[in-house]
Amino acid sequence: MVLRDFSSPLRKMRGPKNPSLIFGNFREMENDPRVTQKWRKQFGPTFQFKGLFNTRTLYTVDLTAIDHVLKHNNIYQKRSVARPANNRLVGEGLLAVEGEDHKRQRRVMNPAFGTAQIRSLMDVFVDKSIQLRDVWIQEIRGGSTARIDVLSGLSKMTLDVIGQAGFDYKFDSLNGDGTPNEIHDMFHALLHAPNSARLRQLHAGPLLRLLPLPGRKLFKEARKKLFAIGNQMLSETKAAINTSGDPKSVSGGRDLLSLLVRANMSPDVPDHHRMSDSEVIGQIPTFFIAGHATTSSAIAWALHALSANQSAQKKLREELLSLPSETPTLEQLDSLPYLEWVVRETMRVHSPVSYVVRMAVTDDVLPLGTPYVDEDGTVHDTLLIPKGQMLRVPIVDIHTDPDIWGADAADFRPERWEHVPEAVHELPGVWANLLTFLAGPHNCIGFRFSLAEQKALLFVLIRAFEFERAVPDQDIQLSSSALQSPFVKSERNKGSQMPLIIKLYQA
Ligand code: HEM
Repeated sequence: MVLRDFSSPLRKMRGPKNPSLIFGNFREMENDPRVTQKWRKQFGPTFQFKGLFNTRTLYTVDLTAIDHVLKHNNIYQKRSVARPANNRLVGEGLLAVEGEDHKRQRRVMNPAFGTAQIRSLMDVFVDKSIQLRDVWIQEIRGGSTARIDVLSGLSKMTLDVIGQAGFDYKFDSLNGDGTPNEIHDMFHALLHAPNSARLRQLHAGPLLRLLPLPGRKLFKEARKKLFAIGNQMLSETKAAINTSGDPKSVSGGRDLLSLLVRANMSPDVPDHHRMSDSEVIGQIPTFFIAGHATTSSAIAWALHALSANQSAQKKLREELLSLPSETPTLEQLDSLPYLEWVVRETMRVHSPVSYVVRMAVTDDVLPLGTPYVDEDGTVHDTLLIPKGQMLRVPIVDIHTDPDIWGADAADFRPERWEHVPEAVHELPGVWANLLTFLAGPHNCIGFRFSLAEQKALLFVLIRAFEFERAVPDQDIQLSSSALQSPFVKSERNKGSQMPLIIKLYQA
């Protein structure tokens, strides 16, 4: 490994000093999740930094390079594929597979995530948003305002949604009576506890699974629980299909799992394209993990941004109140331009997944839009990538790059979507020219699901409440992991949270 590093074609690439052979630049990135933006200013759009155990990692916001990486998933793959399925929280689910297995699973699963299916789930998104609204109204009762950690309610709401819309399974974590919920508490420990960002990063590398790292027990138990639930759900869904004899009559039959099991059993699918039971079960923790904390973090950031930008909040409320319905359809929500801009702007500045990491599985030549200059002053038009090279796609840094978005790139300003700069059209995202849901074969299969859920939440909550900041902006911090969870600087011991002052809205 050391020899390979000395002979790497990237060894002369510029980048920040490496302060530690064990932690590399990890601690600087943990202390300041935005430090990569400072390095980008110092070293240009393409540079290197060191990860844990001195792993050289390539960083680039160069769109020609990013496009190449995301399109060529035969070369640039996820690290997790190096780990055996029985060690992963997501088993053999879509988040973990590559190559032919990935193509096959995606083919069976794509239809369950189409617009027609998402439209049919709209009542779940709206009902659960109304339930959350009523929980907050209860908390306010007695006074006219309350300080509420919105992230906590939102993560219960999104967990209930993925349970019901994903698997026709009632978690009832939003039941409002404070009853502890085992699954919600497990996700809290994994995603929102004070040390969870660090634990997730520690468990990310293939080598690291060999070490007795802290948090190993937590991951093992979570895996056991998730797979036990998965097994139970799959047998219930299959039994419902077998009992009725008609796959179309499964308990409402519109949840993702029922759609997926039906699609997988369909006579139109050739045997060699079908998913095995363990692949189907792997999708269950996959949807939980990919589909709930991302959306709750998105809306927590949206409410935070709207608290800091009261005129945008007011404009949005006026537009939402113009709809003469408490329970809008997807078409009605999609017809509201300012709501669309607010969602886009949240997904740009506060993209819940702030970066993804890839590893080159073969040597490659990476094309660059902007050449890089190495330590010796030599200019390179392309990058020679050795097999095993790690590479970071810094989603939020690209979304807030002034060279692409203009001088106010870091500001939350929904109106920018009226006319975005020409350079934005070069971003290869699957939606709205943003990389929030990535691009290429691994783009987020659940993006329509999440956008519909986000719109339903904003519709219900902004019509019912006024949101204001509870702590100064600079006290809200980001976690250092890929999932952008918010923290309060002075209350780190409480884990992720987003406290806001909430008032009942009175016209
Ligand atoms: C704001 C919300 C969401 C964001 C920001 C988001 C973001 C992403 C990103 C960046 C990826 C690519 C990961 C990678 O390749 O390294 C991804 C993949 C994925 N997402 Fe989402 N996601 C969201 C919501 C959802 C929802 C609601 C679901 C399911 C109901 C979901 C299911 C998945 C799955 C299964 C994959 C793997 C796709 C593949 O590799 O083919 N996501 N998501």
